[in-house]
Amino acid sequence: MAIVITVAQQKGGTGKTTLAANLAAALAPSRKVVLLDIDPQRSLTRWHQLRPDKAAPLTFSNVSGWRLTAELDRLKRAHDVVLIDSPPQIDTDARLAIRAADLVLIPVQPSPPDIWAAEGTLNLAAAEKRRSAVVLNRLPASGKLRETMVASLRESRHPLLTATIGNRTGFASAFAAGLGVTEATPRSIAANELRAMLAELLELME
Ligand SMILES: Nc1ncnc2c1ncn2[C@@H]1O[C@H](COP(=O)(O)OP(=O)(O)O)[C@@H](O)[C@H]1O
Ligand SMILES: [Mg+2]
Repeated sequence: MAIVITVAQQKGGTGKTTLAANLAAALAPSRKVVLLDIDPQRSLTRWHQLRPDKAAPLTFSNVSGWRLTAELDRLKRAHDVVLIDSPPQIDTDARLAIRAADLVLIPVQPSPPDIWAAEGTLNLAAAEKRRSAVVLNRLPASGKLRETMVASLRESRHPLLTATIGNRTGFASAFAAGLGVTEATPRSIAANELRAMLAELLELME
């Protein structure tokens, strides 16, 4: 049976789709991975359509609605990892995706509205008795904002990953080519950060 990671956060633009695509691309060479896009915006579907034939293969699905539960069961049986990209609001599908998750990954940009929005997702994961982890995305390398945000998250005792992701243009360029940063620019800082985050996630799930 697969492990299921649902990337969720009630706010748009925090990096859900970017992280789901990049985690899948980084896992693809070593695991049977499937990406499930349940966001009606379908950005991940577009990314997958751009994916070059020679890139490491990964399964893709964007089944949603009443067929979602059966689709999830089917995908779990046939893969090692299921990565779900969810919409920026908690609708029925997003609730199902959180319920199905072994881990709910919540990207947060270092700004108060992102942190407030994360609370809702954290509460929902807790209500469903799901494990969750907050990851700081687009985090400045240094400065007051970084210190304040990291401190306030630690204080709130939210489950915070040690790994963080900086603000890196490489994510958008890789995305435009249907790739992850570990494929497009494997020696970049973005790729190093992504691999560190993946390693931490896999360790958490063991
Ligand atoms: N770490 C990052 N560095 C730079 N740009 C990022 C990063 N993460 C996300 N972005 C950009 O932010 C925008 C929103 O990201 P996206 O993954 O679509 O968010 P969501 O799916 O949560 O709405 C995109 O343009 C994406 O390229
Ligand atoms: Mg998205």
